[in-house]
Amino acid sequence: MPALTNRQFRLKTRPTGRVSRDNFEWAEEQVPTLGDNAVLVRNVLLSLDPTNRIWMSDVDQYMPPVQIGEVMRGLGIGRVEESNNPNFKKGDYVSGLIGWQDYFVADEKSLGYVSKLPSVPGVPVEAFAGPAGMTGLTAYYGLLDIGKPKEGETLVVSAAAGAVGSIVGQIGKLHGMRVVGIAGGDEKCNWLVKELGFDAAVDYKKPNWKAELEKATPNGIDVNFENVGGEIMQAVYERMNLFGRFVLCGLISGYNDHNDEKSRLSLVNSLMKRITIQGFIVLDFAAKNEEAVSQIAKWIAEGKIKYRETIVDGLENAPEALNQLFDGGNIGKLLVRIEKVPAKAGA
Ligand SMILES: NC(=O)c1ccc[n+]([C@@H]2O[C@H](COP(=O)([O-])OP(=O)(O)OC[C@H]3O[C@@H](n4cnc5c(N)ncnc54)[C@H](OP(=O)(O)O)[C@@H]3O)[C@@H](O)[C@H]2O)c1
Repeated sequence: MPALTNRQFRLKTRPTGRVSRDNFEWAEEQVPTLGDNAVLVRNVLLSLDPTNRIWMSDVDQYMPPVQIGEVMRGLGIGRVEESNNPNFKKGDYVSGLIGWQDYFVADEKSLGYVSKLPSVPGVPVEAFAGPAGMTGLTAYYGLLDIGKPKEGETLVVSAAAGAVGSIVGQIGKLHGMRVVGIAGGDEKCNWLVKELGFDAAVDYKKPNWKAELEKATPNGIDVNFENVGGEIMQAVYERMNLFGRFVLCGLISGYNDHNDEKSRLSLVNSLMKRITIQGFIVLDFAAKNEEAVSQIAKWIAEGKIKYRETIVDGLENAPEALNQLFDGGNIGKLLVRIEKVPAKAGA
């Protein structure tokens, strides 16, 4: 095989506020010769996730922060280009921590970072970067294991038109809940109600959004799936019902400035209403991934779960594209296309 060049984003400085291209060094290096058991992966789709911003900061978190000089950590999907490992063959699709680069070398130390994608009729490869991937699993475990939905209950989900939120709401509908999404702008709110079957959507960018939230939740709120924090979270918390479940998935409104103040809650409400507040990280449930992916993939193939992607072309655009998550520029899963997936793959 001719020598291959691997373009990479390495973290150069820790961002303050929004991420900028200047926080990274754009490096090029040769792909090394593969050792025993190693696999060379051609990265195809890079998943941009709010947690990328957390990983860039030297703050307490659930994984070590990315160190200065390291290739930026990132999830994504790739295709096996070359393999010295009997468990992988050329052309297999894999997903995992492939990094912000063109190629990922899975060697003895990093083989566990990737796993082979299942091939499910009616489910394209791209879906494993979103609804049938990490964000879909987050929605699935957060709602089912922590939210414990019951038919007829009211579920509210914030960042509802995003990768996690859009799946949470649809799983809620599949469990007979009244589902209310909170999202920014008419286009997102219309998509939630008209295409995904949410019962109502509240546009938090409109001045009367709190009154709209009240109108949309006449019987209060039994399950809150929290993705945002801040004022949105406070308004939902005040409307929680007795024995409500408060699923703490994310607090994106504070990731750029690490300002925790605005996401403080008065616990008096939790005491009086016996509310369960539980944070979680999708990794906590990894042992059940095979079963959960197969259920989500089945729902996708049956048309019971719909999804959208916002795709930015070109690895070189990853840093600027990440900011879309904080500006609300994405609908559904935000991805960077590093290389085109052949049309027939997976579907
Ligand atoms: N616990 C876990 O294991 C886990 C795993 C994955 C994701 N998460 C969390 O889940 C949440 C959603 O992640 P995602 O990947 O699905 O992202 P996403 O929802 O696809 O994108 C983020 C969305 O958040 C909204 N947003 C951003 N800043 C906001 C603000 N200040 N106020 C209100 N809305 C704001 C924007 O939509 P609008 O246009 O509606 O503002 C934006 O499109 C994040 O908090 C993330 O950290 C947690």
